[in-house]
Amino acid sequence: MTRVKIVGAGSVGNHLAHACREQGWSVTLCDRDPEALRRTREEIHPERYGSWDDAIQLADADEVAHEVFDAVLIGTPPDSHVPLALEQLHRAPPRVLFIEKPLCTPDLAGCEELVRSAEARGSFVGVGFNHRLTENTRLAMRWLSDNPIGRVLTLRAMTREHWGGIFAAHPWLAGPKDSYLGETARGGGAIGEHCHAINIWQYFARAVGAGRIQEVSAMLDWVEEDGVRYDRIAQLSVRSETGLVGTVVQDVVTRPARKWLRVEGSQGFLEWEVGADPSHDAVRTRLTGSDGAGQTLETRIPKTRPDDFRGEILHIAALLQDTRLDSPVSLERGLETMLVIAAAIRSSEEGRMVRIDYTRGASLGALSTVA
Ligand SMILES: NC(=O)c1ccc[n+]([C@@H]2O[C@H](COP(=O)([O-])OP(=O)(O)OC[C@H]3O[C@@H](n4cnc5c(N)ncnc54)[C@H](O)[C@@H]3O)[C@@H](O)[C@H]2O)c1
Repeated sequence: MTRVKIVGAGSVGNHLAHACREQGWSVTLCDRDPEALRRTREEIHPERYGSWDDAIQLADADEVAHEVFDAVLIGTPPDSHVPLALEQLHRAPPRVLFIEKPLCTPDLAGCEELVRSAEARGSFVGVGFNHRLTENTRLAMRWLSDNPIGRVLTLRAMTREHWGGIFAAHPWLAGPKDSYLGETARGGGAIGEHCHAINIWQYFARAVGAGRIQEVSAMLDWVEEDGVRYDRIAQLSVRSETGLVGTVVQDVVTRPARKWLRVEGSQGFLEWEVGADPSHDAVRTRLTGSDGAGQTLETRIPKTRPDDFRGEILHIAALLQDTRLDSPVSLERGLETMLVIAAAIRSSEEGRMVRIDYTRGASLGALSTVA
């Protein structure tokens, strides 16, 4: 039987534990905080899924640190991701190691060592950008290849979501100052917490042959209060390796949320949306002639919150069979998102455009400011 360990018994740890149990896997959910383990058993899990699942083994993180598992999923705050991943690879490398988004802090500390260590240990390391693996994304990719919308002119993505929803899922936190969410430098703020938008832009850009993001000009709306500093809005103008120009917007102020992407082509468009209504994701497209006429086709895909994680867990199952699979959520792809986050912060601080040179590794040395 597949044995998986999930590190961090918080919000995402519970989602992942539930999705792994649906596969019939043996699940150990660990945390360094005994109160988090109590809350999981008595509150989070029963409130979300109806009852506590006795088959989930709760453990103190230190007690299972040396145990070998088939897969390890790290669902702790971003500033602990890379240190925990390195420790895991050093002590008991699993076949598959998944790290939640964002991969790390915007200073990219430890990333080069992580790349080296994953290679040396032979573990597959991925980053939990689960929207790349959901049904609406698969459908959008099929439609893009079946119904070409002509030459791609621009790509826009947004994850605009008031973080009231996040705090509602964490009633034990009073506000941003109580967690990494209120510190962009720790992986929070709109640029870190809602980096799904950057990542999905990158996924579609690659799918339409536009390559990686090479230039970033960003304006961030910084908030300094209660001793914390975070960006509440991040607006990025980006240009890809092939010259495709587009925008990415992430914020923690918009209600109701909008998680959306649009590929604009010379003969139509394709839109991708998460939560088009409370129980559906959506994909729509319109093929037009040069006069712009045409009919919009839309498919709404029923989904619940657990569906957001099912595709990721099925992908992990496939990786456990073959760690050499070409994965859309590889460490390399997660690092590309971190480089754009780091570039956007530098661009905002310096008021200038920042260029990314991917040949210069997974460190801030890959960024150069354009005068
Ligand atoms: N992909 C998604 O849709 C999604 C959804 C929610 C959260 N996330 C990501 O998951 C991560 C965690 O978010 P969350 O909302 O679950 O946080 P959380 O605060 O609810 O839970 C984090 C847990 O990690 C534990 N922890 C911290 N350091 C630890 C350590 N060194 N060892 C063991 N346990 C440790 C904490 O005690 C806490 O219980 C973040 O990076 C977040 O962005 C992703």
